[in-house]
Amino acid sequence: MVKLETTLKNEKTSNSLTLKTPIIGASGTFGYNSEFVDFIDLNCFGAIATKGITLEKRPGNSGERIFEVQGGMINRIGLENVGIEAFVKEKMPYLLEHNIDFLLNIAGSSIEDYEKLAQIAQENNIKALEVNVSCPNVKQGCLEFGLNPESLFKLTQKIRQIYEGFLIVKLSPNTSDIKSLATATEQGGADCISAINTIRALGVKVDFIGNKFIKKSVQGGLSGSCIKPVALYMVSEIKRAVKIPVIAMGGISKLSDLFEFLSVGADAFEIGTANFIYPSICTSLARELNEFIEKNNFKNFEELKEQFKNE
Ligand SMILES: Cc1cc2nc3c(=O)[nH]c(=O)nc-3n(C[C@H](O)[C@H](O)[C@H](O)COP(=O)(O)O)c2cc1C
Repeated sequence: MVKLETTLKNEKTSNSLTLKTPIIGASGTFGYNSEFVDFIDLNCFGAIATKGITLEKRPGNSGERIFEVQGGMINRIGLENVGIEAFVKEKMPYLLEHNIDFLLNIAGSSIEDYEKLAQIAQENNIKALEVNVSCPNVKQGCLEFGLNPESLFKLTQKIRQIYEGFLIVKLSPNTSDIKSLATATEQGGADCISAINTIRALGVKVDFIGNKFIKKSVQGGLSGSCIKPVALYMVSEIKRAVKIPVIAMGGISKLSDLFEFLSVGADAFEIGTANFIYPSICTSLARELNEFIEKNNFKNFEELKEQFKNE
């Protein structure tokens, strides 16, 4: 799909990432990617973000991890993953052999964790890092790293000093001031922002059984089409604050969603929860976008994107 190729570029540093298409599989919804190669056409993907990888292996949360709500889902997976060492030894060779472009999504509970992960990414020539900053900073009273502009600046700067590849910072929507967080990220040296991660939420179900109310509840991160208006707002605010490119996500499942996100300044897209409902959604979206471009005589995706910038 030559027409869909797009380059995300940090104009200040000239660091860039070229994607075959602007459609990226969102972290946590594609495992380590190799699980999906027999079922999806990888040519339709610009990249796939890996499940969040931590320094050590994590079993994730026990108990109920997924709670369905109207227009979306709440998850509390708890970052179950194999750990960076096993990822590099056991998962990455497959991706490299099969030419699968990926963003390594990383998560830590201290700045030192992120520094070590960035060092390993650098040593292994990993092309692009997506830093999940929606993790509790254990050393600073479990506040999310990404919710304080100073700690976010410091974290981004530390990673930047170590990692020379394309650095994407994934912002949390659980804030009343996304602009300051975006600015801190850009000033810290990130090449790109991706947004949004899930929104803190509580799912509750009450049944009346045998004369008694029985309550079930799950607290976790909300995703899916119900969060799209929040994501549109956040992306438009981020774009007002920074010059670096923005990868948009949050409830994308249709071609018209791509146009809505382009209209607020998105440069590429990640698709998450929709994959659980329509497993071939990313392939369909890339094909539909390509068809739209051909039918309406745009030269390519870059020209289509320009159309929104000129409005
Ligand atoms: C089951 C599940 C697991 C996720 N795991 C991660 C993760 O490990 N790291 C991360 O940065 N985001 C994770 N996310 C967040 C998604 O990548 C995405 O930011 C969010 O779901 C919003 O997009 P969507 O509405 O298209 O799903 C996860 C989401 C879901 C639904």
